[in-house]
Amino acid sequence: MTAVGIDAIEIWTGKLKLDLPETVAPIKDKDPEYYTKGLGLYASSFPDAHEDIVTMGANAAYRLMERKGLTPDDIGRIDVATESAFDNSKPVSTYIAGCLEQVYGDDFHHANKGERKFACIAGTQSLDDAYNWIKAGRNRGRSALVIATDTALYARGDPGEATQGAGAVAMLIGEDPSLVELSTEQGYGSADETDFLKPNQQFPSVDGKRSMQVYLARMREALEDFESVMGDTHLDDFEYIPFHTPFPGMVRRAGLLGYRHMIRNTDVEDELAAEIGRQPREAEYDDREAYEQAIRDYMDDLKSTDDYREWYADTIKPTLGISREVGNWYTGSVHIARASALQYAAENDLDVTGRKLLVGSYGSGAQAEIHAETIQEGWREEIGHLSIDEQIRDRHDLTYEEYEDVHDRHNHDKRVELDDFTEPEDEFVFVGRGEMDERTYEYVE
Ligand code: CAA
Repeated sequence: MTAVGIDAIEIWTGKLKLDLPETVAPIKDKDPEYYTKGLGLYASSFPDAHEDIVTMGANAAYRLMERKGLTPDDIGRIDVATESAFDNSKPVSTYIAGCLEQVYGDDFHHANKGERKFACIAGTQSLDDAYNWIKAGRNRGRSALVIATDTALYARGDPGEATQGAGAVAMLIGEDPSLVELSTEQGYGSADETDFLKPNQQFPSVDGKRSMQVYLARMREALEDFESVMGDTHLDDFEYIPFHTPFPGMVRRAGLLGYRHMIRNTDVEDELAAEIGRQPREAEYDDREAYEQAIRDYMDDLKSTDDYREWYADTIKPTLGISREVGNWYTGSVHIARASALQYAAENDLDVTGRKLLVGSYGSGAQAEIHAETIQEGWREEIGHLSIDEQIRDRHDLTYEEYEDVHDRHNHDKRVELDDFTEPEDEFVFVGRGEMDERTYEYVE
């Protein structure tokens, strides 16, 4: 069976930075550690005045195609995942293809284009669509371009404002991939939930605390479903576990839940029993409330054990390196978590070829998906091409007043003009609206 998976990846961050502990904390009268220790975030990325979901996606895709020496004929489908779309009919993928056609002599007229919506999980669903298309033998030797692009803005004053971010991840999906092979097996946890939604509005309505509970409940359900086809998961099975990362503090919770699940009925649980007791079993309790309290107490003890801390440092923390500097990228977030982990492996000269990732994707509304990935031989070279560290470093550092102007600029209802903070170079930029109110773009040398 031919391996199918991610052959290459490119990441484009919004070119502006909002420093959370330095710039936001004093204005909001918050302890800087609320951001850095509590949420686990240092900064958010924002799009400059000439950027939006189309430019960020097109720029990531163009870099990827150039690096791989591809032309439009090599691409059989372009799927864009976003929850920041500005058009209820014309998909973002057509705008991005239009941008790319400006710089290539050829067009993408024979590529299938679409737009996927299911909150943040849509990026992974687009990967799955591309995987299925190739496995079904419909690709005619061509690859799929999957682009996850979002401007994750919240209303000013909303608790979610601390977790904003903007950027795009472009991924090339093909046969015999260089980066990771996707597992055929998947597990789902999916239910009708109203934790986070945007009923025809740009900024989300969020029940923040509930959204965290729903994330964990659906993720657990997905893991159980995955195990029903793959058998039990164990700590040593996975080199890294990239999760959807709205903010690193959320992943801290997901990691702890996953660890408790994986050690149940194993030697690790037995060894830890001397220190913190065994995991509570529901049958041992008279009512659900007492059982849930016992679980919370056990989790509190578990997270202080050396075994857990070591596992977290090795398996989860490496996935958070980019996220803590850029914030939530919604559909792209789990994909920057994967890239972070592989960057960490490359920087530490680790040999992870053949090792597995367990990838936990999530979208509010709500659905989680768990699948496994096998790291391929070409991973080190592929990951070595990423320029995300330089991009993060080179962002324009906003004052709080500038941040408010940028937020207004990207508010669809306001249509505010704003000068650029950075000089565009070798990139697609937004240049204004056309006769039918369509957004228009140009490539700037
Ligand atoms: N020093 C250190 N830590 C501090 C601190 C301080 N001074 N002050 C607070 N903290 C800690 C808290 O103890 C808490 O830690 P734990 O996670 O260990 O409990 C953490 O900081 C966060 O504090 P709060 O829970 O008080 O934070 P909040 O209520 O102000 O906001 C939030 C958190 C509700 C998630 C809010 O950011 C929000 O609404 N975000 C948008 C929704 C979201 O991201 N939900 C996540 C799941 S849904 C999803 O994943 C989809 C998606 O992408 C949106």
